[in-house]
Amino acid sequence: HPDLWLLFASPDDLPLTNDSSALKKRAAEAALAHVENGMRLGLGTGSTAAFLVSGLGKRVAEGLRIVCVPTSEQTAALARQHNVPLTDLDRTPELDLTIDGADEIGPGLMLIKGGGGAHLREKIVASASSRLIVIADASKKVATLGAFPLPIEVVTFGLAATEMAIRKAAQELGLAGSLEVRSRDGQPFVTDSGNRILDASFGRIPDPEALAERLAAIPGVVEHGLFIGLADLAIVAGEGGIEEIDA
Ligand code: 5RP
Repeated sequence: HPDLWLLFASPDDLPLTNDSSALKKRAAEAALAHVENGMRLGLGTGSTAAFLVSGLGKRVAEGLRIVCVPTSEQTAALARQHNVPLTDLDRTPELDLTIDGADEIGPGLMLIKGGGGAHLREKIVASASSRLIVIADASKKVATLGAFPLPIEVVTFGLAATEMAIRKAAQELGLAGSLEVRSRDGQPFVTDSGNRILDASFGRIPDPEALAERLAAIPGVVEHGLFIGLADLAIVAGEGGIEEIDA
């Protein structure tokens, strides 16, 4: 289950029974090599980023000096557990590096993010960073984005009208499919910023830039999960080892 990591006090307690968890951990550990003393870091959200946070906790205990901006309440809680020093973008509006997971990594390091519903804060934090490193297991690498439903954060006011506007924009780009309000435990999922998520199953997205532009122009859309031109490096762990992909 993608949210299994939330149930454990620390990602170190997660049974690494499944291959992808072991690979996620390896990608996160490889990213630690890019962290230097004195850095201001953005911390991603999700099971891969959780391995990063616990790894940083160990380095901090050994004397590493960093300050970190978490991209979600979940990550903030995990960072506190691991004694990773936290700040926020109001006190520290410029960051050196953000390290975060992804749901899909496409050509040109275009990403789909938001599987954990944190892509609004993830995008704000990544945009405030000089560099974004994406960490993932090899299953996240795709030739074309879109098999993973695209998360779109929307305000609750006018939800049906916003849905219609998204459908229309997609249709005009030749995309069609279902648009579902995300739920968790039978209740609508509420983001850290109090909004809802629509998961758009449009299938292959041949022109992510065009879709991103259209979605961003819809007033009820707070932020979509397409990350374009943000990632500088992807660290992808597969059975054959670590692959580093530059933008
Ligand atoms: C959360 C995200 C995550 O980075 C993405 O969902 C990947 O998660 P995981 O590392 O658990 O596979 O975008 O909003």
